[in-house]
Amino acid sequence: MILVTGATGFIGRSVMAWLEREGIAVRAYQGRMNDPITLREELVGVTAVIHLAGSEAQGRDRLLHHVDVDGSARLVEEARRAGVQRLVFASRLGADPASMHPLLQAKGQVERIIQRSGIPYTILRTATLYGRNDRFFELIVGLAIWSWPFVWLPGGGNMGMQPLWVEDFVHCLVQTLRRSDLIDKTISVAGSEQLPYATLVQYLLNVAGYRRIPLPVPMLLLRPLTPILFHWWYWPAVSRYFMDRFFVPEIADHDAVYRQFGFRPARIRDTISYLRRSGLALRLLRR
Ligand SMILES: NC(=O)c1ccc[n+]([C@@H]2O[C@H](COP(=O)([O-])OP(=O)(O)OC[C@H]3O[C@@H](n4cnc5c(N)ncnc54)[C@H](OP(=O)(O)O)[C@@H]3O)[C@@H](O)[C@H]2O)c1
Repeated sequence: MILVTGATGFIGRSVMAWLEREGIAVRAYQGRMNDPITLREELVGVTAVIHLAGSEAQGRDRLLHHVDVDGSARLVEEARRAGVQRLVFASRLGADPASMHPLLQAKGQVERIIQRSGIPYTILRTATLYGRNDRFFELIVGLAIWSWPFVWLPGGGNMGMQPLWVEDFVHCLVQTLRRSDLIDKTISVAGSEQLPYATLVQYLLNVAGYRRIPLPVPMLLLRPLTPILFHWWYWPAVSRYFMDRFFVPEIADHDAVYRQFGFRPARIRDTISYLRRSGLALRLLRR
């Protein structure tokens, strides 16, 4: 029996669908991360945990500590007590307990808790994922729609991006469960294409059918501008951690997925037809 935390989230929904398709016994964790009683009850009979619960989308440092770090510590404690034999965690490229970026710092702290837990674990550090209802490509298009006639390009859009399709990441997660050679490993994965942010944005806007004038924004202005913009423009889908990727590159070997998991990630152009959906602008505003 596999327990999935964060099963209702962007990655979690794909994981649940994938495991159910494969006929694997799976249960979505129903409680809150810091609730030891529910954790204890739901871990009964569980052999593996896929840990996806996280507060990244809320964009609040306080929640990162409460939900991600303390919540993961609580989960580890209860999982050890329940005799769980495998813990798989979705982390981020750039995770580091000493990072100056709160999200990457929290991810680094959670990684350390898991690595020291004594439970056989695998940590998959990934670049940002995209797919239907993501908070990446849809967000880039959404920001461009609402900043007419411009599209912002932090640092001139030179930062390299290597996005990974969510279904490919879930494929890696599910394979990890069956692979004893990946026990106690921390593995980096990313898409097979590495391209500058400006090129990616142009490509996404073409597919979504929008034209915008590129507006380079100096990195020096980005830090002070971000809280002002995101405070004024309250849009839960836009977490202020979105900007971290312009400071810390999300890059891995271009064949990382192939070497570790034996398949090549999908190409961006084959997996972004969801950006052509009519009504995307309104839906993004409502989200
Ligand atoms: N998406 C990416 O590109 C990406 C890349 C690398 C790593 N990750 C990490 O992977 C994990 C999942 O990402 P995602 O994109 O699927 O995030 P998401 O869509 O925001 O989903 C987060 C999930 O966590 C649950 N959650 C939040 N607070 C909780 C709490 N206090 N107790 C229990 N559950 C709670 C949410 O459930 P409720 O809605 O019910 O609160 C939801 O199911 C996160 O830790 C994220 O940092 C994501």
